[in-house]
Amino acid sequence: MSVLTEKRIVLGVTGSIASYKAADLASKLTQLGAEVDVVLTAAAAQFITPLTFQSVTGRRAYVDADLWGNEGHVLHVRLGKEANLILVAPATANTLAKLAQGRADNLLTLAALTGTAPWVLAPAMDGDMYASPATQANLAQLAERGAHILGPQSGHLASGMTGVGRMVEPAEITAQVRYLLTRGGALAGRRVLVTAGGTQEAIDPVRAITNRSSGKQGYALAQAALDAGAEVTLVSGPTALAAPTGTNLRLVRSAEEMLAEVLEQAKDADALLMAAAVADFRPKASAAQKIKRAGGTPQIELVANPDILAAVTKTRSRKLKAIIGFAAESQDLLQNAQKKLKAKQVDMIVANDISASDAGFEVDTNQVVLVSKQGVQELPSMGKDEVARVVVERLGKFFY
Ligand code: CTP
Repeated sequence: MSVLTEKRIVLGVTGSIASYKAADLASKLTQLGAEVDVVLTAAAAQFITPLTFQSVTGRRAYVDADLWGNEGHVLHVRLGKEANLILVAPATANTLAKLAQGRADNLLTLAALTGTAPWVLAPAMDGDMYASPATQANLAQLAERGAHILGPQSGHLASGMTGVGRMVEPAEITAQVRYLLTRGGALAGRRVLVTAGGTQEAIDPVRAITNRSSGKQGYALAQAALDAGAEVTLVSGPTALAAPTGTNLRLVRSAEEMLAEVLEQAKDADALLMAAAVADFRPKASAAQKIKRAGGTPQIELVANPDILAAVTKTRSRKLKAIIGFAAESQDLLQNAQKKLKAKQVDMIVANDISASDAGFEVDTNQVVLVSKQGVQELPSMGKDEVARVVVERLGKFFY
């Protein structure tokens, strides 16, 4: 099952050059499992054909002529009522004006007015049209009524000028839609705290001790928890990754910074997924200035970092129903995981063998064993996002 399976989206496409990007958007939403009913306005059909959308959604794409066709039921009512979300991308100034005023003179605006689903609008137009008081007033009114307005962004415009008016990129619109349509999931209302990435322990202003953690597993966990409807705070060490849309991202660098942030965020969390690869040791002192080669080979004395999981379990609130630790092992996986489960007093350990080529640091796959009081569950090698989904599913069980 995909994350947007059984979600119906009416994707309204209006007459802007950005309508060609709507095909990519329709494809991305379809790939997430959504049923995407595309409705083109007459102006949009000048830029792009219904066939393009049908090819990527595998479903009929509609134009105004279909309004009076014989679809069995009144088409605009069916489209509007069955939709979980009405998305208009690109949304022209004209269509925004119609939506603001409740005008319904084409299939798209009729369907939008009929349904009770939330509206997500991604404006695209010339910069001056966007800046005009009329458009601004329409957008303000739509936002006040609860519509989600995405963008527009600034950049190159079709007129050749640079300004605000570009449609938000399809990947970003897809991420926003994913967030909005998953709010009612099994973990709705739960606060899930996730840590990710490796920490950096400063030697001097340019050098640090760190590890090869990419943060991929932790970021995938954040996305999986969001997909399950949770409110997610992600405490992350430095990574090259973008946080999933909807995450409350708290960036940290060192283990000590991570400790402080995690203790703060854990106060009102319902669950902690401690996937970060925390450095166990840090230089006793970090040099204020860059260490020069001419000074000879430095001797770096290390001291132990605090154990973040231990600090959380010590001050554990009753609200915190599940603490899940991660263990990266290069030998005796199961025994070490069992030991950590007890020693760290956590509810579950997700253990992986980092000596395997398809598990652990830097790769996209992982092979893990879930160890808890309830027993041991070995999972086959799978994508880190898949592992994340299984872990979050198990997490759900701690709340019942
Ligand atoms: N962890 C932590 N604070 C640390 C080190 C680790 O909270 N200073 C957490 C990790 O985020 C992970 C779990 O403890 O969830 C296990 O991490 P791991 O590095 O496998 O365990 P260590 O306790 O460091 O044991 P060792 O490195 O000796 O195997």
